[in-house]
Amino acid sequence: MELKGLVLSGGEGTRLRPITHTSAKQLVPVANKPILFYGLEALAEAGIWDVGIIVGDTEPEIRRAVGDGSAWGLRVTYIRQEAPLGLAHAVLTAEDFLGDTPFVMYLGDNLIKEGITGFVEEFKEKDVDALILLSRVAEPQRFGVAELEGNRVVRLVEKPKIPPSDLALVGAYMFRPIILDAARSIKPSWRNELEITDAIQYLIDHGYRVEAHVISGWWKDTGRLEDLLEANRMILEDLVPVCHGVIDRDSRVDGRVVVEEGAEIMGSVLRGPCIIGKGTRIIRSYIGPFTSIYHGVLVEDSEIEHSIVLENSVIRRIPGRIEDSLIGKNVEITYYHNRPKSFRFVVGDNSRVGLI
Ligand code: G1P
Repeated sequence: MELKGLVLSGGEGTRLRPITHTSAKQLVPVANKPILFYGLEALAEAGIWDVGIIVGDTEPEIRRAVGDGSAWGLRVTYIRQEAPLGLAHAVLTAEDFLGDTPFVMYLGDNLIKEGITGFVEEFKEKDVDALILLSRVAEPQRFGVAELEGNRVVRLVEKPKIPPSDLALVGAYMFRPIILDAARSIKPSWRNELEITDAIQYLIDHGYRVEAHVISGWWKDTGRLEDLLEANRMILEDLVPVCHGVIDRDSRVDGRVVVEEGAEIMGSVLRGPCIIGKGTRIIRSYIGPFTSIYHGVLVEDSEIEHSIVLENSVIRRIPGRIEDSLIGKNVEITYYHNRPKSFRFVVGDNSRVGLI
């Protein structure tokens, strides 16, 4: 059985503003690789090559990053969803692309450490209409939640106030085309979205077979800052150290550190796991564990750890250590030794600044 892939890369990313005012949440780099690329790799590894990507307002940016998909051996078709009206709406938008082929739907902001190859194989072997992945989580009310009897799913609820279990729906689903009928039959939810959770419930209610696989490995929906930092931590844990840049004699490197092409480390301490992006310069600074510094950044006379810094930003002479932070593109953070002492901010909408 040949499966198609449907990757969802629209959505507004409200929980990651202000970063997502100007860029797609799926392209935020985790360990210096856009989140979306992990999903594309997982599909390619599972032998799925015919992939539709649902895009919204950030379509040009997604197209620029992914191209025709040949970098992963994929053939990518872009499908425009005019408004973010829900995951089941996205499936309906892709109707022409999907035809009558079973498919894997993958949410572009999800990271599933073990990939999806095993689940795709399981779906191919089983005679089921949908195979969903579940993971035990601490805050099920933030997700779609499932109630099981054995492997069989009896009930699914989207973001319940009182969750029936701690089993959250992971953002990778395997469907037969009957899901299109289900998506057509449901009504929008309280958040005015056609929920995939409701469409799957429709399958259950109408006697179709829906099975679940509880994953034991690590999974993250990277919609919020703390989840993004955790994802960054998890991926950096497996970092294979390598240096393609220049580290001068006055610098020290401890633990697993990746220095990408053209990066320069001068008079600094790098304590892994951390990754320094292409063309980035670290001067008289300390980069601590679980930090990903993307391309073209300058860090000078500063300390930073457990953080993600996006491209072309500048951090200079910060007297305290920067921690637990997500710093966007082209940001400048500088300390001036002038009098009178004051803070000067030019900060975008929905930004958060903590002076601790
Ligand atoms: C969506 C689904 C939810 C699922 C989650 C996984 O939530 O509606 O059922 O648990 O993805 O990432 P959303 O990100 O749209 O709030």
